Amino acid sequence: MNNKSIVSSSSIGGLIQRTLNRVDKRLVNHGIRVAYLVSGMLKEQGKYPISQQREQILTAILHDIGAYKTEEIDRMVQFECEDVWEHSIYGYLFLRNLSPVSVYADAVLHHHTSSVSLNRFDIEHRELAQMIHLADRADTFLQNSTNRKALFSFMQNAAGTVFDEEIVELFLQADQNFHLVSTLKDHHDLNVLLYDDGTSDKSGDEYLRMLIYAIDFRSQHTVTHTITTMYISNAVARLMELPSESLPHIYYGAMLHDLGKIGIPVEILEFPGKLSPQAMTIMRTHVDITEEILNGDVDTVTANIALRHHEKLDGSGYPRGLTESELTLEEQIVGVADIVSALVGTRSYKSSFSKERTLSILKEQSAAGKLNAKVVDVIVGHFDEIMGEVRSQCEPILKIYQGIQEEYKILLAKYKSQTNNEPAAIS
Ligand SMILES: [Fe+2]
Ligand SMILES: [Fe+2]
Ligand SMILES: [Fe+2]
Repeated sequence: MNNKSIVSSSSIGGLIQRTLNRVDKRLVNHGIRVAYLVSGMLKEQGKYPISQQREQILTAILHDIGAYKTEEIDRMVQFECEDVWEHSIYGYLFLRNLSPVSVYADAVLHHHTSSVSLNRFDIEHRELAQMIHLADRADTFLQNSTNRKALFSFMQNAAGTVFDEEIVELFLQADQNFHLVSTLKDHHDLNVLLYDDGTSDKSGDEYLRMLIYAIDFRSQHTVTHTITTMYISNAVARLMELPSESLPHIYYGAMLHDLGKIGIPVEILEFPGKLSPQAMTIMRTHVDITEEILNGDVDTVTANIALRHHEKLDGSGYPRGLTESELTLEEQIVGVADIVSALVGTRSYKSSFSKERTLSILKEQSAAGKLNAKVVDVIVGHFDEIMGEVRSQCEPILKIYQGIQEEYKILLAKYKSQTNNEPAAIS
């Protein structure tokens, strides 16, 4: 699918930053500072082409992404963690399975492993793991102290045990040439760090997908719902013979439609019952949050599909109360697909609705003038076909996603037992 126009690669950094900021700003800023130090080391080293450096920098930005999931976030941002495996393993699995930088995932797995311990592991990107480890320690150190000399002597003392000697050497050289330590505080812009000179071979799609999976840090249901909505929308659009140019817009619009839920508190997202009016008001802000995250960086047709999925033809929807003549067919399709996906899916407050119940709700809303009658007719006429197709398309993706949760437990047991008697990797 050609999606060149959906999102330009120069806006990806901003999209990632704004999405993750919604989970925890402190961790994003730490990731950016670590990536800044790593970028200096990569530049000093001059060994990799810019496109590969950019992927390594993105890996460094995301090195603590597992902490969003594993509830280590408060410990992580206070840098008092002793047990580093949980977030390292989850981050590794996330990057390996759900990100465009899967090749570098092993560097995240071992971003707290000392030089000495690394010898016992089979690791392809040892150098990057060590760069991130050192940058991570440097940033932690500098948050509590401005004493550069103390930092450098800590590193020199740790050379050969905590850090590979060459990595310490590389860092000191890079700092001399690029003044990394003294400029560290000024670096908070991801677009600058991920600067794209047009050599990137990764499409915006892979980055957008990664952001969708990041909603998992708040709510697994939402990820499943998003994927289901994408494929229902797609199936309906094809049955209605929409022009092929519309399909990528529908696909990405549906993909992004609930992105803003990443900024809604888990207690509300996963509330096991009917939401109070106050909680409902907060829930509805997910559309505004999506708008803030997209911030004009995604093409307008696609963004509008995402931002208008709760609008209704009779003007009773939100956030704008738009009416039929103001809504495109693409927007209306995704609006209906969103409802179908919610009805057939399980949620914290409901089990999956039967075909009969789902269709009767759709017909009711169509008769009331809220939903596009043609779209509803297509779904009523082809329900089994659509859902069968959707199921087979969602299955492999959901399998990967469930596999991560299972592998997480297995790896945690494995790594924790292997390093039981290890000295702590961090001093
Ligand atoms: Fe970490
Ligand atoms: Fe870190
Ligand atoms: Fe929504």
